[in-house]
Amino acid sequence: MRSPILDYLDAIFEGTAHVTSGATADYIPDLAAADPDRAAVALCTVNGTVYASGDADHRFSIQSMSKPFAYALALEEHGVARVLEHVGVEPSGEAFNELSLDRETGRPLNPMINAGAIATHALVAQDEDDGVDRVLRFFSTLTGRDVEVDESVAASEMSTASRNLGLAYLLEATGGLARHPRAAVEGYVRQCAASVDVRDLALMAATLANGGVQPQTGEQVVCRETTRQVLSVMASCGMYDAAGDWFTAVGIPAKSGVAGGIIGVLPGQVGLAVFSPRLDAHGNSARGVAMMERMSDDMGLHLM
Ligand code: DON
Repeated sequence: MRSPILDYLDAIFEGTAHVTSGATADYIPDLAAADPDRAAVALCTVNGTVYASGDADHRFSIQSMSKPFAYALALEEHGVARVLEHVGVEPSGEAFNELSLDRETGRPLNPMINAGAIATHALVAQDEDDGVDRVLRFFSTLTGRDVEVDESVAASEMSTASRNLGLAYLLEATGGLARHPRAAVEGYVRQCAASVDVRDLALMAATLANGGVQPQTGEQVVCRETTRQVLSVMASCGMYDAAGDWFTAVGIPAKSGVAGGIIGVLPGQVGLAVFSPRLDAHGNSARGVAMMERMSDDMGLHLM
């Protein structure tokens, strides 16, 4: 028998089809050229059952949704104290690519903005030749399949990466970067170009919802303390300068990506993932936000 959850996700998908505002990311040529009408939604319970609707098999680049997971890996490998020496946990209230470092410490304010994500990536990848291998292995453990880099997206982003390179050189100058700036940005861009679909993302989100246990394999992928740290930072910083609007309207820890994905985590319950490439002024998927708002309202997901 068809699950009522699938009917519900179909209704979310169809009920938001009128949201066609916004535009695809313009600063990465490959993303600018994406089909703006594709869309999908997925939900994964902490028991590991995944439900999806729309273009659920369509793969797109993970982009900034990679950041909480790279942060989780850094916490597991280096411990919270060492990671905090490199990147803080304060919301910036600024755009994701702002050239902002803490005035006193020189650290990026948090691991969700690009400066903090480049510093985090460098920590994870510092002794690897191909810095992204460890991150990809981690994504593969989370999704239960081999996650690969979309080389076209990675090359496209590297062709317009001056701003991220500038950030990395600034980080090196203030002593906060564990790799050479160019290698750090190349690795970070490849991390962001990892190719996933909404089912993968819902499962990754559900692992965070499930205290770090991948719900389909039962493997403790990261410890509970790590998930608490990651989810706290997602709640306060995951939606950048829209973090306040997001938390009041939707009320769960989340992270967006410029290819049009958003993940949301309801601890102990579900991981959610949505996709639609047109972005609002904050760089968050416009229809994706609409889908998340509806699901939060309908299912009473708001944590407050
Ligand atoms: O570094 C960048 O600009 C991209 N690779 C990721 C930015 C991103 O996804 C922002 N999120 N909405």
